[in-house]
Amino acid sequence: MSIDKKYLEQFIRATEKAAYGASLFIGKNDKIAADKGAVDLMRDELNKIEMKGTVVIGEGEMDEAPMLYIGEKVGSNTGQALDIALDPLEGTNFVAKNLPNAFSVLSVSEKGNLLSAPDTYMEKIAIGTNLPKNLIDLDNSVEKNISLLADAKNTTPEKLFACVLDRPRHKNIIDSLKKMKVNINFISDGDVSGVISVIDENSKNDIYIGIGGGPEGVLAGAALSCLGGQMQTRLVLDKEQSQRATKLGVKNLKKKYDLDEMVKGDVIFCATAVTDGDLVKGIIDKGDSFEASTFALQKSTKIVKKVTNLHKK
Ligand code: FBP
Repeated sequence: MSIDKKYLEQFIRATEKAAYGASLFIGKNDKIAADKGAVDLMRDELNKIEMKGTVVIGEGEMDEAPMLYIGEKVGSNTGQALDIALDPLEGTNFVAKNLPNAFSVLSVSEKGNLLSAPDTYMEKIAIGTNLPKNLIDLDNSVEKNISLLADAKNTTPEKLFACVLDRPRHKNIIDSLKKMKVNINFISDGDVSGVISVIDENSKNDIYIGIGGGPEGVLAGAALSCLGGQMQTRLVLDKEQSQRATKLGVKNLKKKYDLDEMVKGDVIFCATAVTDGDLVKGIIDKGDSFEASTFALQKSTKIVKKVTNLHKK
């Protein structure tokens, strides 16, 4: 079974609308309002879709998020049973400060096929296409992973580029990369696009490495699973988060997830840019209409496309 291909355009519409909702707050220094702007419009659109939809990754857990929480039912309650991972606004800071690379993102699978990651941190390592299977491993040292990658690419560590979220928690990773003279592309936020950059031919990044949001990890995994990259992840949980994860059905809290364990079967991925992004241009307000550009993928149909649509407001 796969996801009916009629759904792709409808999910694109959901991220387009959410991106527009967030765009109203570009440069307004208000992350919360920007996020709400995206959430409200995404929810409206999702509820128009003829599906039995369940949010498996969302704005938080039921008691902490009023809308698009984990477990929320969306859609008409008829049609295909689908699980949805969503981040109506990935890069709240980017919108608040009018910086590039804010996106509205979602991915969709058939029921039960996406890892239900709690809103906690996640260790992530990702590399691109055409590399030996299981080349890298979270339990290897940074040095070992870099050497393996350099060998597989027939190059040297000094010629590799690593994408890393600029956070103090990454000091050891950064020190190791520096020691090996790997070029580091620091990002201030937005590791969904950071991870995806390893398979983007317009980006120099060979590897993404570090700890970021768990939900963002699954979303980026959905894109990589359509495009053929490799990724391994592991949840980072304190005691209270371990209990929450167990509640969400995570059995082995220390498990390393390979891509095909995070994202199974057919999957749709849509990312509409709010501010100009590496993948597509941001929302353009044209007065009584707006233009939205989306990077959209579906695994079963091998669709990889960038679409720009004009919507009446
Ligand atoms: P928001 O859009 O929710 O602000 O998240 C942005 C982000 O940079 C993610 O891309 C990343 O996974 C996470 O935050 C990193 O978290 P932290 O800022 O706590 O290091």
